Amino acid sequence: MAKGQLYGIGVGPGDPELVTVKAVKHIEKADIIAFPTAKGATGNAKRTIEPYITKAHQLISLTYPVTAGPVADSQTYLPLMKKFYDDTAQEMKAELLKGKNIAIICAGDPFIFGSYMYWHARLSDEFETIVIPGISSILAAPVELGKPLCHREDVVSIIPATLSEDQLVENLTNSTSAVIMKLGRTFPKVVNALKKAGLEDKAYYVERATMQNQRILPVLEVDPTKVAYFSVVVIPCQTPE
Ligand SMILES: C[S@@+](CC[C@H](N)C(=O)[O-])C[C@H]1O[C@@H](n2cnc3c(N)ncnc32)[C@H](O)[C@@H]1O
Repeated sequence: MAKGQLYGIGVGPGDPELVTVKAVKHIEKADIIAFPTAKGATGNAKRTIEPYITKAHQLISLTYPVTAGPVADSQTYLPLMKKFYDDTAQEMKAELLKGKNIAIICAGDPFIFGSYMYWHARLSDEFETIVIPGISSILAAPVELGKPLCHREDVVSIIPATLSEDQLVENLTNSTSAVIMKLGRTFPKVVNALKKAGLEDKAYYVERATMQNQRILPVLEVDPTKVAYFSVVVIPCQTPE
């Protein structure tokens, strides 16, 4: 029997209309839709493609054993996640060997902080694989904010908020504009770094960009106890003249 194909599909930032035509075509070709999710959650990527899921699809939830928040130290977190990716890759391999096409969906773009890349590393040598780019939150958030991210010779940094405060300051001062990702408990540290870099008045908080419950505020007006994981800080470029 012919092996199945693996599709790594970026489904965009949340608005179902921002799922690409190519993503929809490959969702239609998939026998199985596998979606990463935190324990007890629906998964944003799955919610985004809900209009394109049919009764013919088999759904597999790839439930993370931990989230980075409660298990902050990498000595515990990384081995647990490695085992999770190893085990779930074996499950998907068994289905691919049966000839099933599997779509692993991913919020935004699969190769920008996307979990898909860990299954890609484990399966793409053995199985025919098609990776479909998605509209990243890096692109969607400045558009929803209504402020351009870069022009002329601007240099943009994509910064994970999980860096130390010193590293955040260093990266912020070395770029003209920036998008800071992976917020949540990291938010107070991000605000301190923005203040040290003198950027606190230029930074905006964009929560759940393009989703129905989107929220946008200047960073200094955000209640740090109400910061969602699905949010970014955008430091746009100067207004083009
Ligand atoms: C694991 S990364 C996935 C990034 C995703 N692959 C992308 O290209 O946008 C998760 C982080 O992406 C950001 N994110 C993803 N979707 C978002 C959205 N709709 N609005 C704001 N931030 C989002 C948040 O910073 C979140 O902590």
